[in-house]
Amino acid sequence: MKARTIRGFNDILPESVKRWHYIEDAARGVFERYGFSEIRTPVLEFTELFQRSIGAATDIVEKEMYTFDDRDGSSLTLRPEGTAGVVRAFIEHSMGRKSAVTKLYYMGTMYRHERPQKGRYRAFNQIGAEYLGSDEPYADAETITMLWRFLEEIGLADALTLELSSLGDGESRAGYKDKLVDYFSAHVNELCGDCTRRLEENPLRILDCKKERCSALAEGAPSILDNLSEESRRHFEAVMGALDATGVPYTLNPRIVRGLDYYCKTVFEITTAELGAQNAVAAGGRYDGLVEELGGKPTPAVGFAVGMERLILLLEKVSPEGFDRRPDAFIAYVGEEAKAKAYGLADELRRGGLFVELEYEGRSLKSQLKRADKLGAGYAVIIGEDELGRGIVKLRDMESGTEEDVAPDGLSARLGKGRGGRGGEKGG
Ligand code: HAM
Repeated sequence: MKARTIRGFNDILPESVKRWHYIEDAARGVFERYGFSEIRTPVLEFTELFQRSIGAATDIVEKEMYTFDDRDGSSLTLRPEGTAGVVRAFIEHSMGRKSAVTKLYYMGTMYRHERPQKGRYRAFNQIGAEYLGSDEPYADAETITMLWRFLEEIGLADALTLELSSLGDGESRAGYKDKLVDYFSAHVNELCGDCTRRLEENPLRILDCKKERCSALAEGAPSILDNLSEESRRHFEAVMGALDATGVPYTLNPRIVRGLDYYCKTVFEITTAELGAQNAVAAGGRYDGLVEELGGKPTPAVGFAVGMERLILLLEKVSPEGFDRRPDAFIAYVGEEAKAKAYGLADELRRGGLFVELEYEGRSLKSQLKRADKLGAGYAVIIGEDELGRGIVKLRDMESGTEEDVAPDGLSARLGKGRGGRGGEKGG
């Protein structure tokens, strides 16, 4: 038997993980500046949590969950998204009692049994944030602004569009649904089979249909933004005003539907034209009823999740150069005695915080220096017989080729000023 992974489940290899670290570090940095703290919740939850939050009639719950019975017969599900677990933890640990608002972020693997293709996997990773306890439009705007600043920081904002809409409150949606049913009923013969069914069950989903005829019909459908209740309209206008104030660019897309049932009012998606069909790299919105639905005190909330794999694909396109860190120094030696010296020196320099490489295969000095060059080392530290005898090492600037004799004691300080850091491995 040749071991292999499960379809839709991927290994993330070391050269790629460097990009993951870059994105995760940026997210932590930005989110913490906005007062968000990390939370880690289990990947397994009771199935009911997702049925009640995401909605029993959604694609995720109906077709995509990895659900199985535990040994005691209780039904468990691998989390298909992060919000439900975070809200459960918020309620279970009475976090709402500790402060008026609670701002949380998370990073982790989610599981959905979808048909795998580029940018769509069965195990995928999200970075998400949830702002609980405020119904203020500023909370929506700040959450969206934070997401946008993070995307700017990793250099991807230019390749992305923030699409914004409002689903309104229950009152807005009920009236709007009636109008949609009226509109699509007049064209029922032109709808695809799925949409004919949706007309009865959830007419909003027709707006999201990818089939050409339905999509063309949806173009002419009434817009939710013209059908908001007074309160929802004011809320949405305030969100737009706050985004305008921070200069976060957005376009209105009244056809954003979202595949999860918990949303109300503000919804948004961050899309790209660079990734084909899987064009949403992030999405979110307000979900004022969810905490109560899961047994907590009524607590308005807003949040988002970013799809890591899609961000990585985009990052590879936008900055194809490597993310490998270059060694500050590569130690090359000649002979057994120098090898022992090199071994000890490497440890000393590493303990001092430097990134140092060397190899023990005893290859020629020329091969070792070639390796140093390939790794993009800032310096080569050379220990030959002559240097051993004189109690010094030779320090070679790999860029200029200049060499100088340095006492091993002074090496750490000398290399500290080196040129290590982000950069690509040269060649293959
Ligand atoms: P979602 O739209 O289902 O929202 O997922 C958010 C993002 O996760 C998507 O925009 C996409 O980038 C990524 N994603 C989803 N499914 C896959 C997949 N099969 N393969 C790769 N990437 C995927 C949520 O999950 C909500 N919990 C977001 C949220 C947080 N709303 C409020 N708070």
